[in-house]
Amino acid sequence: MWSPTFVKAAALLLYILLISSVSECVYASSTGTAPVQVAIAATDYVCGSGGNWSMQYTLRTLGGADWSPTLAVYGDMGTANAVSLPWLVEEVASGGFDAVLHVGDLAYDLFQCLYVHMGPEVQGRENWFLPLQEGGKVGDKFMEQVEPIATQVPYMVAPGNHEWLHNFTHYKNRFSMPGNSENYHYSWNIGPAHIISFSTEVYFFLEDGLKLIEWQYHWLEQELQRVSAAEYRGERPWIIAMGHRPMYCSTNNDNDCDHHNSVVRVGLPLEYKYGLEKLFYQYGVDLELWGHEHIYERMWPLFNYTVMNGSYENPYTNPGAPVHIVTGSAGCREDHGDFKKDQPEWVAFTSRDYGYSKMTVHNATHLSFQQISADQGGKVVDEFTIIKDYHGPYRAMDL
Ligand SMILES: *[C@@H]1O[C@H](CO)[C@@H](O)[C@H](O)[C@H]1NC(C)=O
Ligand SMILES: *[C@@H]1O[C@H](CO)[C@@H](O)[C@H](O)[C@H]1NC(C)=O
Ligand SMILES: *[C@@H]1O[C@H](CO)[C@@H](O)[C@H](O)[C@H]1NC(C)=O
Ligand SMILES: *[C@@H]1O[C@H](CO)[C@@H](O)[C@H](O)[C@H]1NC(C)=O
Ligand SMILES: *[C@@H]1O[C@H](CO)[C@@H](O)[C@H](O)[C@H]1NC(C)=O
Repeated sequence: MWSPTFVKAAALLLYILLISSVSECVYASSTGTAPVQVAIAATDYVCGSGGNWSMQYTLRTLGGADWSPTLAVYGDMGTANAVSLPWLVEEVASGGFDAVLHVGDLAYDLFQCLYVHMGPEVQGRENWFLPLQEGGKVGDKFMEQVEPIATQVPYMVAPGNHEWLHNFTHYKNRFSMPGNSENYHYSWNIGPAHIISFSTEVYFFLEDGLKLIEWQYHWLEQELQRVSAAEYRGERPWIIAMGHRPMYCSTNNDNDCDHHNSVVRVGLPLEYKYGLEKLFYQYGVDLELWGHEHIYERMWPLFNYTVMNGSYENPYTNPGAPVHIVTGSAGCREDHGDFKKDQPEWVAFTSRDYGYSKMTVHNATHLSFQQISADQGGKVVDEFTIIKDYHGPYRAMDL
C-alpha cells in the first residue's frame, strides 16, 4: 500500500500540475485568435499550450433569443456505469443537442485516483463506496469521456455532493462556468431561456458556517430581480433553475427531499432562513431541474406541497407554481433508486430506468420535455409541454 504521506504528496503534485497547466484556446477560423469563452459562432478551434495541441474541433452555433434550442439534462452519471453516455455522444454528434446541463455528481468522484470499472452487472451496494484515495485519475477519465460532447456544445455543470473534497477543488478548477463565483452559482442565456445554476451543497457542507449560504442567497435574489425586469424577461421569458439536491422527491431513502421540511425547500432548521421554494415562487421561476435521486420523476405544478395545476385537464398550461423535475438517472456506480410504495398525489410520473432528459425551449409560450430511457433502447418514456401565456410572479396570476 502507498503510505498516506506518499498519497498526499502525489495528490499535491497533481493539484499543482492541474492548476498551473493553464491552457489557451486558439481559433483556426477567419476570426483569428479569441478566448473560447466568447465564441458563439460555429468555429473550428484547437486547444492546448506550448507544443501540445488538440485535434481540431468545431463548436456548435448558438442562436439568439428567438431560437429554439434543445438541451440534454441529467445528473449523476459518473465514469463507471455511465449508461447514458453512448446515447448522449451519438445525439450530440448528430446535432440533436445544443447544450448539456449536468446537474451535479459528475464523475464519482472527480478527485479519486482509482478508476475501477463497474458495469451495470455490479449491483451490490457494497461496491458503492470506493476507498477515498485522492489523485484525480477519475476526474481525468470523466473529462475524456465527455470530450466528444463538451468540445462541441456548452457542457454546463452544477456542483453535487460527490464533488465535495477539499472545498470542491476539482470542481472549481476543472470547469470554467460564466461569472466569477468559481462555478458555485452562475447564469446564462440560451434561446428564450435564462438558466440559473446554483449549489445546493452550501446547505450541507458547512465548514464556512452560513457564509456560502448567504453569499449564494443574496446573489440569487439579485439575479432573479435583474432577470425578471420586464425588458429582460420580455426577451428571455423562461427562468429555469438547476441545482443538485431536490426539494421534492418520492424515493424511499432518507435524503433531504424525503423530509417534509427539506433544507433546500424551506431553509435551515429552526429559523427557516434561506429556503429556496418561496424565493423561486415569488419571482415566477418556470422550471426547476434537480438530480441526486437516481431516478426520474415529474411533479404536478407544486408549491408548499400544494398542487397548483393550470387546470385539471391541462395542468401544465399556465401552471400556478413552478414545475419540478428530478432527473438523476444518467448512470453511475450506485444503482437505481427506489420509490415509496404509496406515491404522493403531487407526483405525476416516475421511472427507475437509466436515462436522460431532453428539453426544447420552442419559444416564449412553449417548452417541451422528454425522458429518454437508455434501458429501453432510447424509448421516450415521458413527455409533456409547459405552455405559458405569461411569465412572472405566480401571485400576480392569483389576483
Ligand atoms: C507536451 O506535453 C508533454 C506531457 O505533459 C511534455 O512532456 C512535453 O514537454 C510537451 N511538449 C512540448 C513541446 O511542450
Ligand atoms: C471554500 O471556497 C469558497 C469559495 O471559493 C470560499 O469562500 C471559502 O472560504 C472556502 N472555504 C474554506 C474552508 O476554505
Ligand atoms: C406552507 O404550508 C404550511 C402549512 O402546511 C404553512 O404553515 C406555511 O406557512 C406555508 N408556507 C408558505 C411559504 O406558504
Ligand atoms: C392535477 O392534474 C392531474 C392531471 O389531470 C390530476 O391527475 C391531478 O389530480 C390534479 N391535481 C389536483 C390537485 O387537481
Ligand atoms: C411556439 O412553439 C409551439 C411548439 O413548437 C408552436 O406550436 C407555436 O405555434 C409557437 N408559437 C409561436 C408564436 O410561434
